[in-house]
Amino acid sequence: MKKIAVVGGGTMGNGIAHTAAQTGHEVTLLEVSAELLDKALGTIRKNLQRGVDKGKMTAEDRDAVLGRIKTTTSVDDLVDAELIVEAIVENLEVKLGLFRRLDQVAAPGAILASNTSSISITKLAAATKRPADVIGMHFMNPVPVMTLVEVIRGIATSDQTWKKVDELARAMGKTPIEVNDYPGFVSNRVLMPMINEAIFAVYEGVATAEAIDGVMKLGMNHPMGPLTLADFIGLDVCLAILRVLESGFGDPKYRPCPLLVKMVDAGWLGRKSGRGFYEYNG
Ligand code: NAI
Repeated sequence: MKKIAVVGGGTMGNGIAHTAAQTGHEVTLLEVSAELLDKALGTIRKNLQRGVDKGKMTAEDRDAVLGRIKTTTSVDDLVDAELIVEAIVENLEVKLGLFRRLDQVAAPGAILASNTSSISITKLAAATKRPADVIGMHFMNPVPVMTLVEVIRGIATSDQTWKKVDELARAMGKTPIEVNDYPGFVSNRVLMPMINEAIFAVYEGVATAEAIDGVMKLGMNHPMGPLTLADFIGLDVCLAILRVLESGFGDPKYRPCPLLVKMVDAGWLGRKSGRGFYEYNG
């Protein structure tokens, strides 16, 4: 597949567009406004420039990558795409609306993929008339750097769709790992309870955030402690994923720590708001 569309040019979408274009794919990036498209392209240019400054690519390579990214604010321009990756806000109703619309516009046989962290691929697929062509393509942040793509098969996803997406992920320089569609998939089902438990340890006064992160880094060889990672992901995102696990399994073992709920209520969302388990200046 050579013609890829990316819907949403935020943190993940601009990274997906960047990586697809850098590996020779023709990319169409869709955002809600020209301003947000400029912002996304600005981020991609800045990230590519870092590679130029480090001598990893030439200025011509950078311009060639940018030249492979077309931008639009109209869903109708996605008609040529062989695969559309959705990377918009993590909200079920909003994503369902978009999948209905993409299903009407996309060419017959085009694959509809979602970068969702936790929403059911099976549910998104059921909003379309092509459930066999719907799949999860869960990239990790930052996309140009992280090698994993968790490829999530909905209940109706066909082998052909999975194979094409597996090949595309490899062509993008990533390592795909196939999983089935259950709440949190594998990545967040394993990660979020660990983060939640680390937050409970702060809440119960077992240790400070620094001490908990230190134990996990030095003792378990994690490159980043769970609370530093939670701040990086965003505490609101962590809370939303825990809610999906809690309601999806109906199991109280996934209940979010009251301290996490309180911090999100306070607007302490981690790195992006300047304060989470740590403070971030500038
Ligand atoms: P973000 O908030 O940075 O970006 C979302 C973008 O989508 C915004 O720029 C918004 O204007 C745009 N958008 C919203 N509705 C749209 C529409 N109908 N058409 C076109 N553009 C639209 O969000 P982020 O962090 O990039 O997350 C996107 C998805 O990726 C979510 O489903 C999230 O769960 C998932 N994800 C996020 C990760 C992270 O570390 N941030 C990691 C892995 C997955």
